[in-house]
Amino acid sequence: MSSTQGQTILVTGGAGYVGSHTVISLLDAGHKVIIFDNFSNGRQECLDRIEELTGKSMTVYRGDMRNKEDILDVLGKHKEISLVIHFAALKAVGESVEKPLDYYRVNVTGSLNLIEAMVESGVSRLIFSSSATVYGDPIYLPMDEKHPVGNCTSPYATTKQMVEEIMKDTCKVMPSWSGVVLRYFNPVGAHFSGMIGEDPKGIPNNLTPFVAQVAIGMRDELKVFGNDYNTHDGTGVRDYIHITDVANGHLAAVTKCMETPGFQVYNLGTGKGSSVFDVVRAFEEACGKKIKYSIIGRRAGDVAAMCACPKKAEAELGWKAKYTLAEMCKDAWAWQTKNPNGFNTDNSSKQ
Ligand code: WQD
Repeated sequence: MSSTQGQTILVTGGAGYVGSHTVISLLDAGHKVIIFDNFSNGRQECLDRIEELTGKSMTVYRGDMRNKEDILDVLGKHKEISLVIHFAALKAVGESVEKPLDYYRVNVTGSLNLIEAMVESGVSRLIFSSSATVYGDPIYLPMDEKHPVGNCTSPYATTKQMVEEIMKDTCKVMPSWSGVVLRYFNPVGAHFSGMIGEDPKGIPNNLTPFVAQVAIGMRDELKVFGNDYNTHDGTGVRDYIHITDVANGHLAAVTKCMETPGFQVYNLGTGKGSSVFDVVRAFEEACGKKIKYSIIGRRAGDVAAMCACPKKAEAELGWKAKYTLAEMCKDAWAWQTKNPNGFNTDNSSKQ
């Protein structure tokens, strides 16, 4: 068996949106997966469906990143763990502005607990779920990994940047360590089966789940946050990337992490920017309905445009996004129509 096959991987936050899609890619590639999740934003139903989809079983621990003992307990029970993928975090940008201490506690202290527990347990490979928001307002586009970070526009983004620095410094003093940071642009869509997908609690902050809920009649209309940006149609431009491409980016990072010590950062994006109106049109194509919208003022903290330069991941991970915006919308719509209440199998309506 090569050094990168059949590893046992601890996945924190594995019941969440990006985590669950990554778990499918890991299981399909023959890895064993141990889930660590407090289920604050993920559901056991999602894990049950993953086992149904892949025909593989997983070991699941309910635990909290804020309790280092919970993490040490899992690492102590499973000496076979060779690598950790860390998704577990709070991720709502607007909420982080209102509750910064919660975000520092969960995202930064939680990650510090994990890294310390890994050092104490002799586990030296970590892949971290970061975000393109660490770049702040773009100085140039497309953004490569050399783009300056630090002018973060939210506590959420600052927590992601702080954990990247903690990892970098850990790798500097622990030569056997391998730390890979993955900066996501805008993950959207769902597994092609329509059995798992994005299941936001309450009113979606992000564009595509909101559009999907308008399309299915759960929301009256989309509010477009400004059409006076310096973009091709005045609305905000983002680099939307299919969640399955993001998941496969983690799979490629596992190989890198297993083979190469040191600290590395990679953008996970397509290199293609799409505006709000581009997304609305693509979604109308996917669902066969008109999406009602009205244009209101800009949202605080929004930038005009973000777009990745994905060349480093292509060159060093052998990974390249392959799904189109049309496919992202098709899969998002399939998930929405098959699961109008998300993973709520008791059919209580989502508000
Ligand atoms: C996309 C575009 C909005 C909703 C955020 C986080 C980022 C990452 C992805 C975690 C923007 C416009 C949106 C709506 C709208 N999450 N919009 N009406 O803000 O680029 O990134 O999610 O890592 O960290 O910052 O994504 O989907 O919220 O917005 O007009 O109801 O859609 O103005 O131009 P964003 P988004």
